[in-house]
Order: sequence, then C-alpha cells, then structure tokens
Amino acid sequence: MKILKIVIIGMMAYGLLFTAALAVHEGDVGSAALLSGDVEKGMTLFNDTKFAGATSGKSCNSCHPNGKGLEKAADKKEFSVMGKKQNSLEEAVNICIEMALKGKAIDTTSDQMKDIVAYITSLTGKK
Ligand code: HEC
Repeated sequence: MKILKIVIIGMMAYGLLFTAALAVHEGDVGSAALLSGDVEKGMTLFNDTKFAGATSGKSCNSCHPNGKGLEKAADKKEFSVMGKKQNSLEEAVNICIEMALKGKAIDTTSDQMKDIVAYITSLTGKK
C-alpha cells in the first residue's frame, strides 16, 4: 500500500504544480493586456488630427514626425513641456493635447492613453 500512497501524493503534488504554473501564466497574460496598449492603434491616434477633440488641425505627428524626438520619453520620469513640469509620460501627452492640439486632456488610464503610450514606448531606441 505504500507504493499507492506515494503515487497518490506524487500525483497531487504534480497537480498543484501544474495549477500554480497555469495561474502564473494566466496572471501574466491578464496584466500584460491591462498594462499595455496597442501600438498600431496608438500610431493611428498619433496621426489623427481629430484626436482628443483636437481643434488646431494638427496631429501629434505634425510636430513629432514618425515620433521623432520621443525616443527617450518612455524611460523618463520627469518632463518639461511647454514651460510646465510633468511627472509622467501621460501628463506630458496631455499637455501636448491641450497646448499643441488644442484638444481636451484624456483620462490617463483610458485605452487611448495606453495605446499612445504603447506607441511612444515602441519608439524607444530608434534614431
Ligand atoms: C505644436 C507642436 C506639437 C504637437 C502637435 C505635439 N507636440 Fe509633443 N511636444 C512639443 C514640444 C515643443 C515639446 C517639448 C520639446 C521636446 O521635448 O521635444 C513636446 C514634448 C512632448 C513629449 C515629451 C518628450 C520628452 O522626451 O520630454 C511627449 C511625450 C510628447 N510631446 C507627445 C506628444 C503627443 C502624444 C502629441 C499628440 C497628442 C504631441 N506631443 C503633439 C510639440 C508638440
């Protein structure tokens, strides 16, 4: 009967491990989906002259062609745009929306902000 016990305990341990591995994996996928926006969608917004209710006729791309000059933005913790200080990339984006696009700041946790941030992050390291 000892053998049977060992087999059963072994199977239970294997089951636990397997469940834990699955849980971790699902956790990864979940948080990645929550945290990261869509680069393609972000690029579309970046080129959209109507983004965030813009009324200047400009898009982000008008002043940052193909994201030029934003290659380090995703790694920065402090920004200084248009004479104001910002403590996050999202705030810096909103300043450009308000001052440059003459639009309305968007929710920093919105999907659109995540998409824009994903696009800007994708520029990191480009020349
Ligand atoms: C009218 C021109 C103009 C438009 C349009 C514009 N920006 Fe900017 N942006 C600037 C200027 C000027 C700065 C500050 C100088 C710099 O750091 O290049 C800046 C800075 C930034 C920064 C900070 C860069 C850094 O590394 O400090 C980000 C991020 C940014 N803009 C994103 C955007 C996004 C996203 C949009 C569209 C919603 C946008 N900008 C539209 C002119 C513009």
